[in-house]
Amino acid sequence: MRTAIVFYSMSGNTSYAAELAANALGGELIPIDPQKAYPDKGFRRFFVGGRDAVMGRTPPLLPYSFDAEKYDLVVIASPVWASRPAPPIRTFITENCEALKNKRIAVILTSMGGGNPKAAATIAALAGQAKPEAYVELISPKDRPEERNEAKLKAFIDALNN
Ligand SMILES: Cc1cc2nc3c(=O)[nH]c(=O)nc-3n(C[C@H](O)[C@H](O)[C@H](O)COP(=O)(O)O)c2cc1C
Repeated sequence: MRTAIVFYSMSGNTSYAAELAANALGGELIPIDPQKAYPDKGFRRFFVGGRDAVMGRTPPLLPYSFDAEKYDLVVIASPVWASRPAPPIRTFITENCEALKNKRIAVILTSMGGGNPKAAATIAALAGQAKPEAYVELISPKDRPEERNEAKLKAFIDALNN
């Protein structure tokens, strides 16, 4: 199985989860970042990012390398912002939606609180699919080992390998 793990991460939780998934699946990591970094401190951190997520904005991305032809499975990993996918992920999917329609799509979300299946459904819908083949939401995976994140991620990987 040829796998890409496309991720955006502001503060390291999603990149941490993406790396674990890439190791387990033997996939290639594809980081994406907005041209203009989101504020990562203070009130503006939640205000600016949350506003763009709620408004469905698609901020321009720094150049990235994604050749859809190379992959069967595309894992899309995003932080949850205001119960939604982070805007750079929305940009990536919008830019690649034609190619993603024909791929296996799986979603990794990271959040502080959990309970955001709609964000995963949004990612699948933007990619032209009814639902992701597999989906997992991890709670602060970098800092909170007590959240059973490893077990949840293992179940996600197993679902994709079966
Ligand atoms: C703008 C913004 C909005 C957020 N909204 C939510 C939210 O609605 N629900 C939640 O559980 N966590 C929310 N969070 C927390 C992040 O989802 C969580 O810390 C995530 O793991 C961060 O991933 P990262 O470290 O890869 O950037 C928000 C964080 C930011 C910066």
